[in-house]
Amino acid sequence: APVVVAIDGPSGSGKSTVSRAVASRLGLSFLDTGAMYRAMTWWMLANEIDVDDADAVATACTKPVIVSGTDAAGPTITVDGQDVSAPIRGPEVTSRVSAVAAVPEVRARLVELQRTSAVAAERGIVAEGRDMGTVVFPDATVKIFLTASEEARSARRAAELRAKGVDEATIAAMAADLGRRDAADSSRKTAPLTRAADATAVDTSDMTLEQVIDHVVDLVQA
Ligand code: ADP
Ligand code: CDP
Repeated sequence: APVVVAIDGPSGSGKSTVSRAVASRLGLSFLDTGAMYRAMTWWMLANEIDVDDADAVATACTKPVIVSGTDAAGPTITVDGQDVSAPIRGPEVTSRVSAVAAVPEVRARLVELQRTSAVAAERGIVAEGRDMGTVVFPDATVKIFLTASEEARSARRAAELRAKGVDEATIAAMAADLGRRDAADSSRKTAPLTRAADATAVDTSDMTLEQVIDHVVDLVQA
């Protein structure tokens, strides 16, 4: 059976960076499921759907066509054919995504797309998000739960935004939002962020990116 590597954890724990690097090294596909929830949220905002109205979100969520390109060398995300990779990282989507991701109909639709991506992946896939090991791929070959202290995670996010030239006020707002988003993701009823019983926890607070990547590659190859 093709390899499925399931990587979960809170914001800023290193999921995207580590998953993409591991996929590149092992010649596997890469799926950023957070980008799909962000793309859905971007579409809701663009179409003036009230994202705090769960019924409205549930009704609308079948409309956008969301496509994830799973090449680890250059992952892509489109909504109705439009490249949304930049706007889905902005503060508007970031502050609203947890509300949209809490709607069960949204999750059902995106989980189906995620499983389809895994089936289509020729050699296997590294999939990262909040519920890869618990819900989407319960029989994954390897499950990893990345963690890091809240200080480390918000410092990483701030450094990343600063490197992109984002202004300090927005950086402060997004850093403050990280704790709120983790609490929302962990306490929702459908697929809350939690470590799967059979996932290996890796605390990355005091590890370099290279150390984390090497360690995850070792776990996959063990
Ligand atoms: P997530 O997908 O879990 O939100 P990212 O992969 O986007 O996390 O990582 C957030 C930022 O932290 C990125 O800029 C990344 O380069 C950096 N980073 C990730 N892991 C580490 C680490 N172990 N040490 C230092 N920086 C890291
Ligand atoms: O990059 P960051 O860790 O900040 O977030 P992300 O991985 O892009 O995910 C954005 C949001 O999508 C999360 O805060 C969750 O609300 C939601 N999400 C989810 O519910 N389930 C997933 N499998 C992935 C993301």
